[in-house]
Amino acid sequence: MTAKHFLSLMDFSRDDLAQIIERASELKHLHAAGVHHRPLEGKTLAMIFELKSTRTRVAFEAGMHQLGGHAIFLRPDETQLGRGEPVGDTARVLSSLVDIVMLRVLDHTDLNSFAAVSSVPVINGMSNRFHPCQLLADMQTFIEKRGSIRDQSVAFIGDGYNLCNSYMLASDRFEFDLTISTPPEFRPNKDLLDKNRRAHWVATPQEAVSGANLVVTDVWSSMGQENQLAERREAFQGFQVDSNLLDHADTNALFMHCLPAHRGEEISVDLLEDPRSVVWEEAGNRLHSQKALLEFMLG
Ligand code: CP
Repeated sequence: MTAKHFLSLMDFSRDDLAQIIERASELKHLHAAGVHHRPLEGKTLAMIFELKSTRTRVAFEAGMHQLGGHAIFLRPDETQLGRGEPVGDTARVLSSLVDIVMLRVLDHTDLNSFAAVSSVPVINGMSNRFHPCQLLADMQTFIEKRGSIRDQSVAFIGDGYNLCNSYMLASDRFEFDLTISTPPEFRPNKDLLDKNRRAHWVATPQEAVSGANLVVTDVWSSMGQENQLAERREAFQGFQVDSNLLDHADTNALFMHCLPAHRGEEISVDLLEDPRSVVWEEAGNRLHSQKALLEFMLG
């Protein structure tokens, strides 16, 4: 199969990613100016959401519409996937019906299985392993606010899960230094940590945040971990990001959260309204960065 997929940030070169981010800001300005830009007329995106979504779904659906194309929302329980049709068969069929497919799945191996036989490009709309679309928006937001992120210092506080994994890959692709602090039992994936020489783990959030230019966190219990809520709340005590913790960062630091946020858990009740928080722009940039991604992949 020759289709170029976007299952993780490592699927694209540094130059490709820089081009997408730059284009995202251009598309944002075109949209704000009311310019109609419809290069994807006649193109169709199929979106398979095994897990819930607000931002990813709406950004892709609105983005395809604005670019002149069409998006179809599919839930496995409303398609034959829910009745056991194999992922590979679904991929073969959709390849002959649409131009590009986005999947949000719990098990990243399903994404790999789909992509392995898909003859159209496949986008990871989040899996248990990576969330690359979120990183496009995060990088766009930082660069728009502060300029290049190269050689800047980023702190990730919380769960060493899919967003943390994507930040580790981003530290390579965008060439920044990443310091991660998690409870010991929620440390990030060892292979990824070993492979990404700009990423390292420290024990305390204060140490991770010290001098950081960007501070990032995510929920303590992601989708699929709902049965661990109580034990995770206990394990993550001391890892809440609040304004006092942000005071350890650089005076010009930004705070990001991919949302949805749980106020009073991974962030203090008022943190999203802190002047250092850029979460609303970050969420808005999901639209522009995903439009740039679609334009890039559908050429
Ligand atoms: N951050 C993020 O992916 O949001 P959704 O789950 O709403 O798509």
